[in-house]
Amino acid sequence: MPIPATQFIWFNGKLVPWERATVHVLSHALHYGSSVFEGVRAYPTPRGVAIFRLYDHTRRLLDSAKIYRISLPYSAEQLNEACREVIRANGLKNGAYIRPVAFKGYGEIGVSPKNDPPTDVAVAAWEWGKYLSHAEEEAGVDVCISSWHRVAPNTIPALAKAAGNYLSSQLIAAEARRLGFAEGIGLAPDGTLSEGSGENLFLVKDGVLLTPALAHSVLGGITRDTVMRLARDRGLEVRECALPRELLYIADEAFFTGTAVEITAIRSVDRIPIGSGKHAGPITESLQSAFYGLFSGKTADKWGWLDPIDMSAPRAAASA
Ligand SMILES: Cc1ncc(COP(=O)(O)O)c(C=O)c1O
Repeated sequence: MPIPATQFIWFNGKLVPWERATVHVLSHALHYGSSVFEGVRAYPTPRGVAIFRLYDHTRRLLDSAKIYRISLPYSAEQLNEACREVIRANGLKNGAYIRPVAFKGYGEIGVSPKNDPPTDVAVAAWEWGKYLSHAEEEAGVDVCISSWHRVAPNTIPALAKAAGNYLSSQLIAAEARRLGFAEGIGLAPDGTLSEGSGENLFLVKDGVLLTPALAHSVLGGITRDTVMRLARDRGLEVRECALPRELLYIADEAFFTGTAVEITAIRSVDRIPIGSGKHAGPITESLQSAFYGLFSGKTADKWGWLDPIDMSAPRAAASA
């Protein structure tokens, strides 16, 4: 998907012109994958443009850095403000996708050099509509189980949102698309269900909402958490547990969650129809409407998940 360029990117504490936010080819992250990042959405709401669960995304970024011992030269509040700043500076009042990234930059070479290279931090934002088309969103997507498993425990930490983890995601997504599916689902090393290449997975069976637990090589998705809370709030039983692959084939409903895909129904897995095989099931639909209602104002934001941005606040000076 092409990136619609905006004017400014926040880079190491300053707003710089989009085309000047560049790094050296010998940056550590480029060679060894030492980069952690986030994907955050801002939505237009009746209270103006607001960032969804900004504090939780920033906390996950800090946690990912902590797992890899990447020192971050900015506080959570400075990073939150950088996210608001790129929305303001680029006038993104219709909502945006925000991409904070922190990585080991240019310094010494080597996997674990004596003097750690400095950590570079950037936050970019651009206008980004739906990840999937409206038709796909309404009908649901056709997916497959990947021949690639997700990472094994105690190899590459699945709970860190680190660039290197996305090598596994690239294998899963590319294989699925090559075979004509919209997405692939990776199994955990024990053969139980894990997650999509960039989404968490939910099933509905006999009125209970089921999702693989954190120990099954999944990222602790913020949309996953949102959906579990919305579901419990509506009196639904939710279980995080080990789920056998075949439970997906006989599920009444299935869907993906993620910042990019939001809540996307799955209509078939390995060409086996899920539910009617034609459109989202009733529980998926009710969770979709509760979720999207947060942004239209129909669902009360009683958790304080929306962080409205004051677009008239003074803008930080951009560096020349
Ligand atoms: C591998 C993976 N799983 C799950 C998710 C969903 O996480 P979130 O809802 O926080 O976007 C993502 C997206 O960041 C992801 O890349």
